[in-house]
Amino acid sequence: AAKAAKPAQVADEVPKLVGAGEGFAAAFAKPHSADEAYFSLAKGQRHFEETVQDCLEPVSSEMCFVCEWYPEAWPLESKDRSSTATFLAGLPMQAELELPPAPAKEHILVFADRGGCCKRILEAAPERRVGSITFEERALAELDAEDLKELVTQEKWGLILFGTGLDLPASNSVDDIMPVIDDLSRTWMELVKLVARNKKNCGRLGVLSRDVFTDDPKKHRKAGLRLEAASSLWGMSNTMRIELEEAVHLAYIDIELKPSDECLKRVASELFCQETFGQNTVRILNSGRYIMRQVQCKHYQARTPSFEVPSSGVIAITGGNGSLAQVFGLHLLEMAERKNREHPGLPPVSFTIKLLSRSAVVRDREAQAWAEIVKKAATLNISVDHVKCDVTKAESIERFIAEYTPNITGIIHTAGILQDAMLPGQTWEKFETCLGCKSRACIYLHDSLERHHNPDLG
Ligand SMILES: NC(=O)c1ccc[n+]([C@@H]2O[C@H](COP(=O)([O-])OP(=O)(O)OC[C@H]3O[C@@H](n4cnc5c(N)ncnc54)[C@H](OP(=O)(O)O)[C@@H]3O)[C@@H](O)[C@H]2O)c1
Repeated sequence: AAKAAKPAQVADEVPKLVGAGEGFAAAFAKPHSADEAYFSLAKGQRHFEETVQDCLEPVSSEMCFVCEWYPEAWPLESKDRSSTATFLAGLPMQAELELPPAPAKEHILVFADRGGCCKRILEAAPERRVGSITFEERALAELDAEDLKELVTQEKWGLILFGTGLDLPASNSVDDIMPVIDDLSRTWMELVKLVARNKKNCGRLGVLSRDVFTDDPKKHRKAGLRLEAASSLWGMSNTMRIELEEAVHLAYIDIELKPSDECLKRVASELFCQETFGQNTVRILNSGRYIMRQVQCKHYQARTPSFEVPSSGVIAITGGNGSLAQVFGLHLLEMAERKNREHPGLPPVSFTIKLLSRSAVVRDREAQAWAEIVKKAATLNISVDHVKCDVTKAESIERFIAEYTPNITGIIHTAGILQDAMLPGQTWEKFETCLGCKSRACIYLHDSLERHHNPDLG
């Protein structure tokens, strides 16, 4: 059934995925084991994405995917591993499932948080599943690659749990946030590199973060920018999972900011349920368990008011001499042109575009696109110019934001440097270069804009 489905049909099924097995699961062939049964849910999503690749034409106008969270209730893991099979057997697909073999007790290595969540999670582990727990409590900054190697290779770990991302930085100052991001990203990268080299030393690899995905404004107001400190672990984990292949399962689990005992019990269950482990990005909140699905954007766009280009002020584009910046620059000008045409009674759009880069030099490959921007801007009487600003440096961003406050009406962040490498060839230096002008720059921008009020910044 899955093979025959067209993207649109699968997409239509996605919103019905409320509660496991309802609608979506029923669309797939009868599985023979609990593992296979669960996999079919995740596989449905993969199939959807893969099929879309083959059918770009009809869906090209909906090709910007949105991530959405679907509730997927799952039973708490039992000591004998029977709960998933029993649960799935009761679903509409009525699979006749073999019970999995009795589980062995596992050795567990935990990079523990200071707040004690990891301890509470493991105290709630299903009975008879934990053989030993080694808590590594040194600060990540104190652990080098040799220390990590010793830890990973000293035992055949059933589970390695990276829980340090649960600790929020001490304050919302960038001076407190940046070292946490660096320590988490560096250690997680080194750890997964080691696991990839020593696959027999690790059965499952779990990584935890705390409400990185929340869109609850109250939580953001309360916790502030530091809530995002562990967010790079998610993107890293997605690419790492591909390289680890099936040899080591990697699960990314985002948990509630202030988890209840029941929430932590669910996290423990998630870590020990082998059928579901690593099949989805999971959020475990006090309100339940949610899995991430990519969905087509059209329904979301239909509910959102269309973007209106600012009429005045300064719009900054970081990475301003790059390819993407030329696309955005021209698009903004075309929107300004349309706004002028549609509102002849209003003063013409008069924003200025500042294109930020380290060199402020237009390279040959962008020359034609830039010439087009200059031409269009001249017809609209709009000013566009290149400005030197290294967005990896807080002081450069601060200088720019301070200079144009309170007139900044938009910022598009496209600065980026590619440092592609497979895990064995990846280094912290490369990683830092990439993170620097992406996430680090975002945090500096956010921080600076919190101090400099720009009332019309959309
Ligand atoms: N092009 C696409 O289709 C596409 C699609 C998805 C994602 N992306 C991502 O979007 C980003 C931009 O893509 P692109 O194609 O426009 O790349 P690009 O042509 O290489 O442009 C990136 C620009 O960023 C500038 N830059 C690098 N570090 C900077 C820093 N510290 N401060 C200020 N500016 C800096 C560079 O100019 P200087 O060296 O002069 O600073 C460069 O011209 C990349 O990270 C890329 O991975 C691109």
